[in-house]
Amino acid sequence: MTHTQQAPTTSRLFESARLGGLTLSSRLVMAPLTRNRASADGVPGELMATHYAQRASAGLIIAEGTTPNAVGQTYPHIPGIHSAAQIAGWRRVTGAVHAVDGAGRMFLQLQHGGRVGHPGTSGHIPLAPSAVRFPETLQTPMGLEDAVEPRVMTDGDIRSTIADFADAARNAVAAGFAGVEVHSANGHLLHQFLAENTNRRTDAWGGTAEGRIRFTVEVVRAVTEAIGAERVGVRISPGTGVNGIEEGDTQEIYAALVPALAEVGPVYLHLVHADPDRPLFAAIRKAWPGTLIANPVLTREEVAADGGMARGERLLAEGADLIALGRGFLANPDLVERLRTGVPLNAVRPEFLMYVQGAEGYNDYPVHA
Ligand SMILES: Cc1cc2nc3c(=O)[nH]c(=O)nc-3n(C[C@H](O)[C@H](O)[C@H](O)COP(=O)(O)O)c2cc1C
Repeated sequence: MTHTQQAPTTSRLFESARLGGLTLSSRLVMAPLTRNRASADGVPGELMATHYAQRASAGLIIAEGTTPNAVGQTYPHIPGIHSAAQIAGWRRVTGAVHAVDGAGRMFLQLQHGGRVGHPGTSGHIPLAPSAVRFPETLQTPMGLEDAVEPRVMTDGDIRSTIADFADAARNAVAAGFAGVEVHSANGHLLHQFLAENTNRRTDAWGGTAEGRIRFTVEVVRAVTEAIGAERVGVRISPGTGVNGIEEGDTQEIYAALVPALAEVGPVYLHLVHADPDRPLFAAIRKAWPGTLIANPVLTREEVAADGGMARGERLLAEGADLIALGRGFLANPDLVERLRTGVPLNAVRPEFLMYVQGAEGYNDYPVHA
């Protein structure tokens, strides 16, 4: 499937922009995309270096969800950033991007799966705020398996996990990343702390909205102290039920979380399902003084119609600073240039090529001739 469009060369999407100490070549950001191309022990190799270097014309790349410690691993072949070999692997990836973009405009998403993890994959019983099992199956090296009941995190587990995030952030900088994105979205561990159905704690890390936001805030605080606020972003997905999440009062959680994060001062907030027609968007824009990255989450029709340009321009007009696109960058290494010049987009290849190993469906999307 391809599309045709007018060449919209004057769009604000193609302006350069500042992000902390970085100058971005456009306002178009590659969203984090898990692709399961690391080795079995989480080491990025040549396939990943090639994939990201092919996409180095993005204004900013946010590299895929990467595990800060062994127990936080979600699926097989997810990269990590807690061993020497993983750091060395990522250094090759950032080096390949730097060789193309001349600057290394690349953040790394730090993702701890919490209850979305399996002992058959990570070698550990998953940790979570409460003993609430993920009510679905998970991909493991043995195939699809039922999720197991997670172990409730003790105060000590919480402290050591926060420290692991800070160490992972230092490792990411050592590996050549410009910064990290703390993943507090899409039903992973930090989101499990935010949401009512997965956080049943009655201690300081649960209960009220103030209690439930504490873990995200403390992780972000530790990470900013480790590498500097200009190198840290945070991803949130308010009001969306991915990975079995039921937040409860979304409005109340984010009315507490966003100002608390603003006080800590990371350089950006990255909002998934950003929709200017939801009151939440305006409320978050008002409460967030820094850079706001908006990920609109496109329908297939929108991808086909214009690759998301109309949604992106509307979000910029409503106060977003940068626009993140996922599947567009997945299928189009040269997405920015294609959108700028109005040439047809590559179609996203079938779902079975998303989360497998090998170059097919990963390194073989062509650039426009
Ligand atoms: C294959 C695939 C992998 C993804 N992996 C991640 C991930 O690692 N971390 C994350 O926060 N979101 C992840 N997402 C969500 C994307 O970042 C993005 O929010 C989503 O694709 C919607 O944007 P789009 O409409 O531009 O594709 C993934 C999405 C896809 C399609």
